[in-house]
Amino acid sequence: MTENFLTIPVDSSSQKFLAEDGLRFDLVDSSDPVAFIPWSQSITRNFLAPAEPLDKIERVRAYYGDMRLSGVWDDSAADPSMPVATFRTWPADLTVPGAGSVLAWAISSVAVTGSHRRRGITRAMMEGELRTASALGIPVAMLTVSESTIYGRFGFGPSAMASELVIDTRRARWTGPTPSGRVQYVTQEQLLVDGHAIVERARLSTPGQIQYDGILWERLLGVIGGEEGVRPLRFARYDDADGTPQGFAIFTLKESDTDFTEHELNVHYLMAATDDSYAGVWRFLLEADLVSTVKADLRPLNEPVRWMVADYRSVRTSDVDHLWTRILDVKPALEARTYASPGRIVLGVSDPLGFADGTWALEVGTDGSATVTEVAAPAEVSMSVSELGAIYLGGVPATTLATAGRLTGDAERLDEMFHSTVTPWLSIWF
Ligand SMILES: CC(C)(COP(=O)(O)OP(=O)(O)OC[C@H]1O[C@@H](n2cnc3c(N)ncnc32)[C@H](O)[C@@H]1OP(=O)(O)O)[C@@H](O)C(=O)NCCC(=O)NCCS
Repeated sequence: MTENFLTIPVDSSSQKFLAEDGLRFDLVDSSDPVAFIPWSQSITRNFLAPAEPLDKIERVRAYYGDMRLSGVWDDSAADPSMPVATFRTWPADLTVPGAGSVLAWAISSVAVTGSHRRRGITRAMMEGELRTASALGIPVAMLTVSESTIYGRFGFGPSAMASELVIDTRRARWTGPTPSGRVQYVTQEQLLVDGHAIVERARLSTPGQIQYDGILWERLLGVIGGEEGVRPLRFARYDDADGTPQGFAIFTLKESDTDFTEHELNVHYLMAATDDSYAGVWRFLLEADLVSTVKADLRPLNEPVRWMVADYRSVRTSDVDHLWTRILDVKPALEARTYASPGRIVLGVSDPLGFADGTWALEVGTDGSATVTEVAAPAEVSMSVSELGAIYLGGVPATTLATAGRLTGDAERLDEMFHSTVTPWLSIWF
């Protein structure tokens, strides 16, 4: 159903809207360096990053072959080949409660040049690409965001939060389990080979994780995107008692100016496919000699490591929104996941863009699977599509949204059904 997502033309009503403003909205062919290089340079500029050398842009170009790239051009600009706006999309599996997945339209590289901001270019590209996803039969859209104020208006809601941990290792004496496997340093090349299978196993049990490889995986390991002056990445892998790799951490170390015993260890990524490997990798990091602080971001809420140390307060956390989801087609989206308790509830959903608008009966069987039907009955609980996106993965309580005045009706029953026992978590930016 999505095989032509790379070539299906951009949405004609967005194209027309932008044309009336003298702008051209179109696809970019990543196999053509003449088109790709300015598109890539435009993103770097608009995200305020230093310009990248041409050979680096040329190296990453190969990774974009399976993504849909689009842009907006102003033919009257000083450099008409450089797009004034960029957008990138691709379909990817998003894990939902019940260890199933839903096909989701991943959105990235949303950027508009300063000279052309606040005249509706993002709105036109976003609405257009959401209509394209809908036409392709993709039931959910998703993104990670630079600012949390932008995407609610397009029907996205934050559904998986991220926690930043700062751990005082002098206070955090390990009291957790003693794992039966072992942790050892490995090379980038080794982890490139056997790390992805670990990510895949963990992905399938955690709502909010997305299927990824290619550029996102290789960037995580520093194969591409490594910048000069950045501290070298270190790689530690946990192998279980049978010798099977089950977890790993990617981290850097920062020396203190005044005290050699006060290094800071920054965890860039930590993934564990088993409880044993989770304990093994964390213990390895927290017991590192010459380190006084361990920092980690993009961690799940309720990180178990807090319960594996002698002093709970040695682990300080702060939480932010991370993955935002947007329901495009209510029936397949809600039927893709399972529910915590059986029953029937009628949801009223308002959607200014029309995709999810309607009244929907959700009927959950004793096995947790659901059937969704559009009905004419009165809604028992009402919300906008942004709130539906927020509760979708089972981590944001409907009762919280009701208290906040963002949802009305039987929020308690909605929570009984929607709650996920596994905390939604997305471990990467995309
Ligand atoms: C954020 C950005 C993409 C917006 O592009 P834009 O073309 O100026 O946006 P639009 O003119 O289409 O505005 C669409 C709506 O979003 C709002 N909006 C735009 N940027 C916003 C921001 N930074 N914060 C809050 N609201 C914003 C507008 O007010 C407008 O609201 P309305 O349609 O409800 O009246 C652009 O400013 C940009 O490139 N910023 C730097 C890169 C970035 O942060 N990208 C987002 C990555 S997740």
